Amino acid sequence: MSSSNQSKSRKWTIIVIIALVIFVVFTWPKPVEREQALEAVQPDLDTAGLSPEVQAQLMAAYDSIALSFATVEPIFDRSCYDCHSHRDKLPWYFKMPVVNGMMRDHISEGREHLDFTGGFPFRGKGNQRELLNDMKEEIDEHKMPLESYLWMHSDAKLEGPVFDSVMAWINHSHELIVSVYASNGAPMKESPEATEHEHEMGDDD
Ligand code: HEC
Repeated sequence: MSSSNQSKSRKWTIIVIIALVIFVVFTWPKPVEREQALEAVQPDLDTAGLSPEVQAQLMAAYDSIALSFATVEPIFDRSCYDCHSHRDKLPWYFKMPVVNGMMRDHISEGREHLDFTGGFPFRGKGNQRELLNDMKEEIDEHKMPLESYLWMHSDAKLEGPVFDSVMAWINHSHELIVSVYASNGAPMKESPEATEHEHEMGDDD
């Protein structure tokens, strides 16, 4: 190797090292802001405009769903809570540069849509009926848990009997809420927060 070639490759080595240093500094893990926790966001119970009796029936339905939630919570815990809750125990690889940056966005965005913290009723973009409907769609179409997450976390995949129990719980809970409105002839209004969706479960009648 000639000496000019040598100094050229030394120059490149330095450039690569500097680029690496910049990359690592910019992607260094930052803690996910879990303290700004449960903000002021409260679950949307969708009681506006309902008579006191219907409200009471709706609350009773929510209470019963909250009880049965315990039977499926371990599944949601394993498959969804890393992105959809305020828990602070995160997998080790969330601390890696780059992954951490990606995960921070997923967590803050995921929680905005649906936050399981505190159990049922859920916080998120929409009332309980709409959130259950969204969950059903996302799980049914295998959009959740996110594909990129399953790559590191294959046990989070929802399939077989686990998939069936989650779907059964969601459907049953959704029906319970809908039946309160239906049996009282109360209109099911769309919440202003709700994400645009087809209403697979017959919300809009
Ligand atoms: C790796 C992070 C991650 C995991 C794990 C995850 N989600 Fe999500 N979720 C997101 C992000 C990010 C969004 C918002 C952007 C989007 O819709 O893709 C989201 C959005 C949602 C939405 C709203 C969709 C909409 O269009 O309104 C629902 C419902 C949802 N997730 C349910 C779940 C359920 C149920 C699980 C577990 C079975 C789960 N997610 C697991 C990151 C995640």
